[in-house]
Amino acid sequence: MTAQTVILITGASRGIGAALALEYANAGVILGLLSRSISSLDPIVPIDPIVSACEQKGAQVICANIDVTDTEALQQWIADFNKQYPVDLLIANAGVTSSIGTKGEAESWSAISNVLDTNLHGVIATIYPLIEPMRQRRAGHIAIVSSLSAYRGLPITPSYCASKAGVKVYGEALRGWLAEEGVKVSVICPGFVKSAMSDQFMGDKPFMLSAEKAAVIIKKGLDKNKARISFPFPLNFGIWLLALLPAAFADRILSLLSYGANREPR
Ligand SMILES: NC(=O)c1ccc[n+]([C@@H]2O[C@H](COP(=O)([O-])OP(=O)(O)OC[C@H]3O[C@@H](n4cnc5c(N)ncnc54)[C@H](OP(=O)(O)O)[C@@H]3O)[C@@H](O)[C@H]2O)c1
Repeated sequence: MTAQTVILITGASRGIGAALALEYANAGVILGLLSRSISSLDPIVPIDPIVSACEQKGAQVICANIDVTDTEALQQWIADFNKQYPVDLLIANAGVTSSIGTKGEAESWSAISNVLDTNLHGVIATIYPLIEPMRQRRAGHIAIVSSLSAYRGLPITPSYCASKAGVKVYGEALRGWLAEEGVKVSVICPGFVKSAMSDQFMGDKPFMLSAEKAAVIIKKGLDKNKARISFPFPLNFGIWLLALLPAAFADRILSLLSYGANREPR
């Protein structure tokens, strides 16, 4: 790490993104923090507590309210930020979820579109403006927050799993492409992490970690330039194994574990 490390995190207003911002916040770190609601433009409204906590730890924080589905605004902001502060580490973390209804009803089309626009299109749109600048500098690290649900579709959250599988393979492809160019790429696949998002999830949440613990694991993995940061064990091993099983057998197991189509909220 250089004297001044520039880290850009999307979805930094709460949950895993906020915990990562705090984990990285330090003197000598410039943090670019994005979400739809992290920056207060109104001087009467108090500054976001995540921003002030990062500043208290010595980081310089530049934050903005940006919706990752607004591609033009997102890419313009990232390009301008990168011109002033060449990004060392991008963590494309912003995400939303959706699930089928408790009686097996389909996700609404607007929910599906929002999941794909945010988690798939939004992540790729976030990364895109930094690829050429990082290639030219032969430096930089791109981290993509996927999920263990990228390994095997869960009947309870079809579009979410599709979006996470999409960014997982996108990251794997980028890593192979950009390694020769001096740019690192890591895919992060967390299991259950306590957050506003996991609070919405109606199935069981075994081995759930706090966002703070998840941030420590993610930072350690990124420091080692791991291709894939999957956790926690043994959930990552279990889901990997599930993907190898015959589909009918795997579906039966998922149903028994409350991730099938018919279940009541827990
Ligand atoms: N929690 C888990 O169990 C778990 C497990 C595996 C993977 N993940 C992944 O980890 C990432 C973070 O999830 P989390 O659990 O921390 O969820 P969270 O607490 O709901 O936080 C999501 C973050 O994304 C931001 N965001 C959502 N939509 C956005 C948009 N259109 N534009 C910009 N920012 C947006 C939110 O801020 P605003 O609302 O202010 O925009 C918030 O900062 C997600 O990609 C999620 O899929 C989570």
